[in-house]
Amino acid sequence: MKFFLDTADIKEIREANSWGVLDGVTSNPSLIAKTGRKFREVAAEICATVKGDVSLETVALDADDIVKEAHELVKFGSNAVVKIPIMKEGLKALKRLADEGIRCNVTTCFSAPQALLAAKAGAAYISPFVGRLDDIGHDGMEVARQIRTIYDNYGFKTQLLVASIRHPLHVIEAAMIGADVATMPFKIFEQLVKHPLTDSGIEKFLKDWKSQNLSIW
Ligand code: E4P
Repeated sequence: MKFFLDTADIKEIREANSWGVLDGVTSNPSLIAKTGRKFREVAAEICATVKGDVSLETVALDADDIVKEAHELVKFGSNAVVKIPIMKEGLKALKRLADEGIRCNVTTCFSAPQALLAAKAGAAYISPFVGRLDDIGHDGMEVARQIRTIYDNYGFKTQLLVASIRHPLHVIEAAMIGADVATMPFKIFEQLVKHPLTDSGIEKFLKDWKSQNLSIW
């Protein structure tokens, strides 16, 4: 399973990238707004920093304008993926862009039927928001599981990108159902590395080592 960072914060992206396990980045208008910087600056910097796919989201609401924005977004690099919210106009734009060979990530997906439509229209990625579904008392991962089964049943190549991840358990569940990608905030990335027994284990090893004045050299 690929690990994407769900952020537009370049410091977080650089840090996660330095760990050698970052496969890509997803952004959205809220994350871009949070940086307080100009969109074009941020998008260019992220696409240049990360080798893998970088999702940049459209904000237009009709198909012609979505397509125009998409053409602008792909100029940021060959790793730029156009993120389009699922809606009728979004589907129209998606079909046109997919026919042109432009890769799109269909976002704000909250149901399996939405994911099925996105795959039929040629989406490269589908992003079910599991955390936001959990937030309103639904089982977000169940939707992701349904999507996995449907895509496998019909051989759709659309990658299942589990989004809106709230905790490390979501990452494990995403891997268990065979998601292609999990996108998560930097905080979750850090939580995946840490374990209290690892911290105390390292502390004890170093204490014992120092107590005998040992040296590797
Ligand atoms: C996905 O690509 C979205 O940017 C993101 O995962 C939404 O997550 P949130 O529900 O934490 O805002």
